Amino acid sequence: PGTIETRAPGKLFIAGEYAVVEPGQPSVLIAVDRYLTVTLSESVGHAAGSVHSPEYGLIPLTWTRGDSGLTIDREHHPYDYVMAVIGTVEQLRGELGIPARFYDLRIASELDDASGRKFGLGSSAAVTVATVHALDRFYELGLTARERFKLALLATIQVSPNASGGDVAASTFGGWIRYSAPNRATLRAQLDDRPLREVLSGDGWEGFDVARLAPPHGLRLLVGWTGSPASTERLVGGVRRSRRDSGVDYPAFLLESRGCVDDLVSGLDDGDDDLTLDALRRARRLLQRLGAQSGTLIETDRLARLCDTAEAAGAAGKPSGAGGGDCGIVLAPADADLTRMLRSWESHDIRHLTLSVHPPEGSV
Ligand code: PMV
Repeated sequence: PGTIETRAPGKLFIAGEYAVVEPGQPSVLIAVDRYLTVTLSESVGHAAGSVHSPEYGLIPLTWTRGDSGLTIDREHHPYDYVMAVIGTVEQLRGELGIPARFYDLRIASELDDASGRKFGLGSSAAVTVATVHALDRFYELGLTARERFKLALLATIQVSPNASGGDVAASTFGGWIRYSAPNRATLRAQLDDRPLREVLSGDGWEGFDVARLAPPHGLRLLVGWTGSPASTERLVGGVRRSRRDSGVDYPAFLLESRGCVDDLVSGLDDGDDDLTLDALRRARRLLQRLGAQSGTLIETDRLARLCDTAEAAGAAGKPSGAGGGDCGIVLAPADADLTRMLRSWESHDIRHLTLSVHPPEGSV
């Protein structure tokens, strides 16, 4: 039996964070050229299989023989996203009448630093996307990129019910994309009482949209890492609670976020760098206001410095993703002098990650 190796790129949000958790609200993301790799080998010696990762060590997979043939035991595994993917793909395999086989999965990641701290480049999404792809090839399911995205999102929302899936889309499709999410509550409800095949091809995907964007021509992308890992779940929870206490004018926030993303997309489409930079700066201000109104620390001191020094150089900077740490992004005119910015980053422990956009993978 052969070995299958798949890799999925990390991602960065460019704009539309927080708003994108609402179905149909647009965001912009990129995939970056740092990768998570899954190596799958058929296990012949022992009829069980395993998952192996630097984070969790070796986890044996256990299977149960039931009415519908072999099913994988999903309880009690710490590697949630991988287990959710395995459970989801195994269900589809069963529905398609393909016999189960055993396998070992090995996970290796470039999305953490040498001491295992996460950069915040979407390692959960990358492991989900790479595992879906590996199992797709192993069972010869012949899924399209769109179907792999949908499977990966259905697995993701079993672990993280409110996740927008923007990171999953960026990691699946590569390049620069505009993304808006389907209603995950609707999909989760369908998962409970419909065959997976039907959910995949059914009508629960309203609001989901992905489109390719032209990368900016005259702008450079720079990424700074704050070195502090942030909890997306905690931050999104904080904003959600404040919405209930009506600390935030949420409809206005959604409208303005859409405006920023639309202008950003127009700037990219028309090669209008000034519009692109202006939209990014407005997106930063919008997140600052959301943070202030909801009492959530989105723009930490280090992220503020990262962005302020970019703006002082005539560029635009913004926290990427939920904020609270992780990475910030900068778009800078090709002729901007970034020496002072980079020097300031260095003296404030903001690490300049040298990475590029991972190219688009086929059509969306
Ligand atoms: O912090 P990240 O990179 O995981 O991004 C979170 C982005 C949010 O919009 C705040 C949440 C989501 O699920 O999209």
